[in-house]
Amino acid sequence: MSDIDQKCADKIRLEAFMHRFLVFRGQDIPGEEQVRITSLLGSAHEETSTPGREKQNNILDKRLAFLSNDPKEGLLGNGVEGWHSDGNTIDTPHLFTLLYCKKASRLGPTLIVPLKEISDALSEDERNYLEKIHFVSGFNSSIVHPLLYKHPHRNDDTVFLALGSLSGQYLMESEEDGGRKLVQLSKDETQYVMDLLESKLLSANLIFALNYKPGDFLIMNNQAVAHIAGPGTQLPPEVVGVRLIHRSTVQGESKPSKEVKVNYKCAKFSPFDEGYCIFSLKDSVFYPRVGYFDSQPVARQRCKSFNKFADLAAIHSEEWNDLVKSIITEKGHPHWINASNPQGTDIFWGEEKGHFANWDPEQPNDHGGYEDCVVLGPFAKWYDLPCSGPKLHDKANMAPVIVWEDGIRKMLNVYPLCGVPQKHLHIDIDL
Ligand SMILES: [Fe+2]
Repeated sequence: MSDIDQKCADKIRLEAFMHRFLVFRGQDIPGEEQVRITSLLGSAHEETSTPGREKQNNILDKRLAFLSNDPKEGLLGNGVEGWHSDGNTIDTPHLFTLLYCKKASRLGPTLIVPLKEISDALSEDERNYLEKIHFVSGFNSSIVHPLLYKHPHRNDDTVFLALGSLSGQYLMESEEDGGRKLVQLSKDETQYVMDLLESKLLSANLIFALNYKPGDFLIMNNQAVAHIAGPGTQLPPEVVGVRLIHRSTVQGESKPSKEVKVNYKCAKFSPFDEGYCIFSLKDSVFYPRVGYFDSQPVARQRCKSFNKFADLAAIHSEEWNDLVKSIITEKGHPHWINASNPQGTDIFWGEEKGHFANWDPEQPNDHGGYEDCVVLGPFAKWYDLPCSGPKLHDKANMAPVIVWEDGIRKMLNVYPLCGVPQKHLHIDIDL
């Protein structure tokens, strides 16, 4: 790690978005080098500006904090307040947290849990309730964020998690006198919300414990995971040895938001005479590398998670295909649709045989075996592809490498193209 350049840091950034945290073992990273690496990943945050953080005497750089169980070595009692993502006391939570283990104690792990899965574990009733709740910082009551929001880079669901003393009294959206306002929850109600989140987190069976060895370097994509310093981290150095962690953070780039980047195109062509809307999830899913994208069943699930009445798009006529072409061409990538191609040029929408297709002249070709699902190329011609998506056995050609409609041979990831009856979209769209 110690001689990485910007190009390498850009790749690490993407890997950290994709895997959510990375651990590099056996590293030798002096403090100034950690600050340099941090600055390559984004804008390094001044650790000394963190509210509630004690002053440090032995500090090398404002962008570095020393966390320890020994007051001679660093600050005590950090990260044990409750499960949290870092930067919960400011408007734009940190993008990355970097923890370098200089000295390892026994029983001093950092525990890490992924947040999308915690959000996914909520029941419909729990989600409906929590969607209205806003987090309030326990250190600064002007810091308010939606509890459930979209990860700014991965675009998947995440949770603004900062439990225990990191939380103040939460707010709840309420419709009153025809307007929407935020009403403060009681301490008990806030505790109920925190207990609910913690119970999901503990029962998910997804906690990773990083039992440090000296030289471990952890990079967390902060809004994609929650973490906590394990209970043994504060045991006396005489009992478990000295624990010394060098911490730095990369500033966040945006305020947590529920907003998603999706444009709908709607029409009333047959057979959807009451209106049907099609949209791409290209900017709402995150595939950091070519070759890593969803299978057709997972892409279907992506549409349903986005809107429970949505599915991969159905395209029943040339009019629909033309409408879709304008969406896909703008995105420049192939997209899954809901069609299957069990044999020959046949198209099925579920059990029902279709009467329209827009195959590229060379398709369907069952290339390399059985290709029983259908994708639209970047210019809306149809291609067959295995429903399982990426060809994991062929690392060099995991995504489809095809001479696309423009005559250019390229390897491209496939994104979900979703469709939803217009009556389930509560937005005004002119047809
Ligand atoms: Fe932390």
